[in-house]
Formats: sequence, C-alpha cells, structure tokens
Amino acid sequence: MTDVKNLLSAMTLEEKVLQLQQVTAGEILGFAIAEDTGVRGGEGLSAERLGAVGSALGFTSAEQAKSVRLAYLAKSRLKIPLLLMHDVIHGCQTIFPVPLAIACSFDEELAEECAYVSAKEARSNGVDVTFSPMVDLVRDARWGRVMESSGEDWYVNSLMGRAFIRGYKRGGLACCVKHFAAYGCPEAGREYNTTDVSDRSLKEFYLRAYRECLKEEPEMVMTSFNLLNGIPVNGRGDLLVDLLRREWGFNGVVISDFGAVREMISHGYCRDERECALIAAQNGVDIEMVSYCYADNLAQLINSGMFPEEKLDEMVERVLRLKDKLGLFDNPCGFGDQEEAKRICLSPEHRAVAAKAAAECCVLLKNDGVLPLEKDERILLAGPFADEKRILGAWACAGDPEKAVSVAEGVYALTGLRPTVAAGCEWEGEDLSGIPSAVKAAQKFSTAVVCIGEPYYASGESASKVHLNISPAQLALLRALKGSGKRIVAVVFAGRPLVLTDIQPFADAILYAWQPGTEGGTGIARVLFGETVPSAKLTMSFPRSVGQCPIYYNHFNTGRPNTTGEMFQRYSSGYIDEYSTPLYPFGYGLSYTRFSYSNLTLSSNTMHAGQSVTVSVTITNVGEREGKETAFLFIRDKYASVVRPVAELRGFKKILLAPGCSKRVDFKITEDMLAFYTANGAFAAEAGEFEVSVGPNAALRETLILDYQP
Ligand code: NOJ
Repeated sequence: MTDVKNLLSAMTLEEKVLQLQQVTAGEILGFAIAEDTGVRGGEGLSAERLGAVGSALGFTSAEQAKSVRLAYLAKSRLKIPLLLMHDVIHGCQTIFPVPLAIACSFDEELAEECAYVSAKEARSNGVDVTFSPMVDLVRDARWGRVMESSGEDWYVNSLMGRAFIRGYKRGGLACCVKHFAAYGCPEAGREYNTTDVSDRSLKEFYLRAYRECLKEEPEMVMTSFNLLNGIPVNGRGDLLVDLLRREWGFNGVVISDFGAVREMISHGYCRDERECALIAAQNGVDIEMVSYCYADNLAQLINSGMFPEEKLDEMVERVLRLKDKLGLFDNPCGFGDQEEAKRICLSPEHRAVAAKAAAECCVLLKNDGVLPLEKDERILLAGPFADEKRILGAWACAGDPEKAVSVAEGVYALTGLRPTVAAGCEWEGEDLSGIPSAVKAAQKFSTAVVCIGEPYYASGESASKVHLNISPAQLALLRALKGSGKRIVAVVFAGRPLVLTDIQPFADAILYAWQPGTEGGTGIARVLFGETVPSAKLTMSFPRSVGQCPIYYNHFNTGRPNTTGEMFQRYSSGYIDEYSTPLYPFGYGLSYTRFSYSNLTLSSNTMHAGQSVTVSVTITNVGEREGKETAFLFIRDKYASVVRPVAELRGFKKILLAPGCSKRVDFKITEDMLAFYTANGAFAAEAGEFEVSVGPNAALRETLILDYQP
C-alpha cells in the first residue's frame, strides 16, 4: 500500500493537474500526437510535462507497453507509475465474437469466460484498464456501435455488463463502464449525434444498466460524447456528480471519452478550452482523454480561485488509488510480460473458448430442413466470406486476422474434406463478373453455403449506415446460385442486424454468424455440421426495412394499435408500405430440435405486498436432437399511472433438454419486478392487473393475468 495522501502532498500543482491528463502512448514515444483530433495544432506536451501525465491509451503489446513505461519514467520526476488503458472489447489477441453476438448466447458464464481470457491476455500485454463493457441501450441498427452493446433491453445489458466485469476482475484487469449516459440513441442512428431522451426514459430504461453494473464495482466509468437534452454530458453535474457519485455511490475514476472535453466548444456549450476545463472539472470528470483542456488551464483556474484545489486533490487521489489498487507502485514497469504473453495468448485453451463462443453465438434464423449438413457431404463454399480471415470484428484490439480460422479452414478441419471455394464477388461493390464461375462451380454440388455480409470495418465506431441491405453483388450471387437449383445456406457476417428481407426468399437456411472472431470458422463449421446445436437468440430486433429503425420489442402500444395482423390498417399506427413488426423479433432463434411450451401456471392469481408468486411452464424437446432452449419471462402492467411498454423482459432461463424430455421451468415474480417510476415519482408497483407471459421470443408467448393488490 502506498501512502497516497503523502504522495499527493509531495506533488506540485502542475504534477497534480497532469495526473488527470491522458495522452496517447504514441505521444509518450515521441510520435502521433493526437493528430486526428487536431488539438493544439498537433502540438503535444513538452517532454518535461509528459513525464508527469497520469495515463496513456492505445498500445497493443507487452513490448510496446514496456517502451511506453520506460520512456515515461525517463522523463518523470516523481516516478509515479503510468496507467495504461486500451480498448479490449472482445478479446486481446484471441478475439471473441463481438459483444452483441456474445449477448445472443444468453449465457452469462460464457460472457464472463470470454472477458476473463481477454483480461489475462491484456494484462500480460501490459494493459491496466480496459474501456469495456459498453452497456448502452441500443435500438437502432443504423448505428454501427450496436456491435459493442448487448442490445435493446436494459436487463440484458445489465446482466451481460456484469458478467463482463466479473470476468475482467477475475483476470486482474481493471475496467470501465461506458458510455455514461445514453450514448446508445443518437438521432437517426448517426454517429456522435445528439441524443434527446426524456428524464423518465432515462431513469426507466437508459440509465438502468450502468447502475446495475456498479454492483460489480468497476474501477472506472467513461462519460459519453453526446449532447443529452441540450447539454453535453461532460457538463452534466446532475448526472456525473448528483446521480453517479452521490445517489449511486460510485467512488472510482470518471474519464471523458476521446477529446470529448474539448468538443464542448463544437457543441456550442463552451467558448474556449479554459471554459471546457472548468465545466468538466466542476461537473465530475476526473481524467481528460487526449484533449489538453486540463493540462493547459486547470492550474490557472485554481490559482485564480475559480476551481478549488481540494477538489483537484480528490480527483488526483482517485487516480492514485487506482494505481495503488493495481499494484503499479510496486511494479512501475507494469505487468506486461512478453514471455507470459507469448505463452498464453492464442493458446489452444484460449482458442477453445473462442471456438465455443463463435458456435454458441450463431443465431439460426431460417432452416427449411437443410441444416445440419452431413459430415461426408461435399459442399460449395461461395461468397466473399467463404475463405476470409478478416472476420475478427471492428474492435479487434491486438487480434491478427492471419491467425483467424476462415469458414473454409473450419470446414476442412472438422470434416477432413477440403471444400470447393468460389467467392463469386467482393464484400462491397457491384462487380458481378465472378458470379458465372461460382454458378458453374456449384454444378457438382447439391448444397452451396454462401458466406455473405458486411465487412468488419462497416460496424463499430464511426460506421453508421443508412443502407442495411446486403450489397447488390452479394444478393445477385445468392439469387444466381438459388436459380441454379441448389440448396442454399446463407451464413451472414455482420456487426449489426442487417435487413435480410431481400435474401430470405433465396436462402433455405440463414445462419447469422456476426463478426465471430479468431475461431469464427471453427464455430461456424460446428454449427453447419451439427456438432453444436444452435441455441443463440437475438437481443436486437431485425428490421424488415431500414425505415423501421429504431425498432424494439418493448415499445408502447399507442392509442391506435393495428389490430388486424394485416400490414396496414388505415388510421391505426403503422406504415402504408411496410409491417410495423420486425422480420425477426427479440428473442428469436431456431435450433436443430423443436421445443413446445405447455401448462403455463401461476402459483396464485393474486399477489399482495411483500409476497411473491411463481410462474411455471413445461418445456418439452419434441424434436430428435438434444438442444438448449432459452425461455423468456415478460411482464406488462396493463393500466398504470404512467403507461407501460407492451412487454418488459424480467427474466430468462436457458436449459438443456434431451429429445422427448420435459422440464418445468419456474420464474419467481417479486414486487420489484412489477415496479416502475410511478406518476408521483416513486419506484413502486401499482395495484391492478399484470400480464405475465412466458415464451420462446417476444412475439410468441402465452399470457396469464396476475392481480396485484398491495
Ligand atoms: C472513443 C470511443 O467512443 C470509446 O468507446 C473508446 O473507448 C475511446 N475512443 C478510446 O479508444
């Protein structure tokens, strides 16, 4: 334990201020001075000042981490160890499926395991803190960052976020819940755009997961870039101080997002960097990531009495305490260990977790009896992703695509038969010239597995899109192969829900593989050939058309719901030219076996204050294969002082069933599961009728009525 208070008193004002400054690792090494932000005209800090900064981000190996730490220490007076942070989002060197895919497994243990392996690899590479998990609630597939979230339900966001944090902690890596707050709903799905969310929606939906995640005691919280209801988040003391610190009791470190403190000028909130520094510091931002408003202005603000030094000391103390907790004072060169990194990264054990995750995250969206394939069946692998290794995803950290397993390699390794590969087209563009040769190659086979989708760089940060369809050339390839009479299995690679309306008629089966990571091909092959029975289910609704976005299951009913089941009912809520329902709803996902739900019961139809009831359902595996099924519990308060969504997820259970076997699945319903922020502001359950429904997805559920009388 370091005497942090003592250390603090040995620091000059300048050193304290710089402790709150985060720079890029490149800047410490003498190059790449945040040129992409254009701050300070590309001029970084002087060598002397660099020797006092508190943290750095953006490096990818133990070797680099060591050089950064040594370069820093050489410049440093007090030799306070540097905190190294990085985006370890879905793996470090062994890359797992993107977080949105991991959530679809509805398997918290798997999520925790992926995070644990990521943490071990990251720690061995010298990373102290990861900027993960992102638990933003997301409802709009146009926004490329949905890949980094766990979808459209705050309860799922909470459980998956918590599982990630547990895994990171177990692996010794500090973590950072982000992006506080409501970063997940930029208007029109446009990256970095304004968010405008009512205070009620914030409390009820958007803030829930951040709060739940604090139960796992993450070390850091990151503030978001966005304007929220007219004020940039870095200026919102009501959220960052009153709520996060005072009400929720968070006492870790709050960091801004990249350059976001200075961006308050572009937002039109602050006139200059001095004002940015003052506003951010007053409103609870401890570390400024990459822009230099603090470094250049905080000391002067303190000297002129505009900002109290005691507050600065509290901010610095939090940073020093984190360094102490991570053991950095005892080991200022960090934990990066090249030998250890070589030994554990991409080890067979880590690859095995990645292969399992890739298989468990594939969502089977359609299957007209084509899948699984027989292991001795020779197949054509078509499409630009058939033998593609760049399937790691957008936040692939230190992942090397060359180390990834393509679908062709995965199929060969599993079956021992080398598949014929005919890409037919590129993953972007309209060049159709390769299609005839793919169709010709297909002549010898009865099944073509067509691997299509969006490139890895088309999702993630700064990858918003207004077109969510598969590219014209890929669609043309699919149609041509289908037209030649083949059975078509479409394997879709993407970091977001794509619009599959066009491809559905031309595919006998659709397997959604997401961006599956290093062992993507291994996992996909296991599912294609039945070694793994698919069990993942969607945590985001898939739109039929991009015009439906944002689309989510837990919407309100409106005063004029469409009651006909037809696409359009005049003067009811809907579209003239499209259904209002998604193509695939939240919770949707098929298996190679089938499950029936029966005998839904409530232990009592009435519930009183302080009581709980149990809703139970029998799930039977009525197919021929062993398989896993996730059952969902949804609740709706039918009439309330503030209108409730048509359904809200309150629990899920994933069970394994042998063919012909049944299991009774119970969900306990407690009062807090009926509660919401009522019209008078209390979080409480109101008397009246509740719809309690259980089923395999949001669109298919059986309902009972529970009468709550407190
Ligand atoms: C910007 C992103 O919004 C954030 O999620 C990420 O952690 C930082 N850049 C650091 O790379």
